[in-house]
Amino acid sequence: MFDEISVARAWDYNSQLEQERYARVLAKIDRLRGPDWGSALELGCHDGIFTRQLADRCREVVACDISSDACQRTRSRCEGLSQVRVQPVDVETQDIDGKFDLIFAMDILNYVYGRDKMLRTSATLAAAMKPSGILVITDCRLAPYIRDAWFRYLVPVGGDNIADLFAMRPEWKQVEREFHPDSGEDLGPQYMAHVIAMFTRTGA
Ligand SMILES: C[S@@+](CC[C@H](N)C(=O)[O-])C[C@H]1O[C@@H](n2cnc3c(N)ncnc32)[C@H](O)[C@@H]1O
Repeated sequence: MFDEISVARAWDYNSQLEQERYARVLAKIDRLRGPDWGSALELGCHDGIFTRQLADRCREVVACDISSDACQRTRSRCEGLSQVRVQPVDVETQDIDGKFDLIFAMDILNYVYGRDKMLRTSATLAAAMKPSGILVITDCRLAPYIRDAWFRYLVPVGGDNIADLFAMRPEWKQVEREFHPDSGEDLGPQYMAHVIAMFTRTGA
């Protein structure tokens, strides 16, 4: 399915709102980490637009995607950048080699469906994180009529629920949470409001 989406070029990560989301994340990491970003793992690299931005800041970037088309697009975009490696990975089922200072799980966890799979993914990311590392999660909020409903906790996805779940895990400490755009409201049918959340690794 993700290969079909990638081949169809269904998402536009050069759009102004997506570029603003990337810029917000990068500015926050700048503040939290200072100039030395170290190594980064990017999950769901899609077409490598954010990968390219990480490559300017990190000593090493490992970019992963379940889609071979997405991996190929990221490879092409990052051609000649020796600090970037691209790997096909299904984060829901596979472990990750190596330990990283930064892990970016941006707009990918909404596709990990169900609490058990999400908890497994949390453990996978914790195992791939260096002790002082930072995990970045961004994801779309649920539609307003679900996000405010009494049954919202029964819906296993949505940026708020995902960030809540990670915030409750002993392996993570939440250090940032905000909305993009700031209002937390969708901008028409074209752009769903996002949660941007950041976590540091605890000793657990
Ligand atoms: C919505 S795009 C997000 C792109 C980029 N991370 C961003 O935030 O702009 C989701 C990407 O995650 C990939 N993906 C979905 N499920 C995955 C999984 N289980 N493991 C690895 N990649 C996955 C898709 O192929 C797609 O390229």
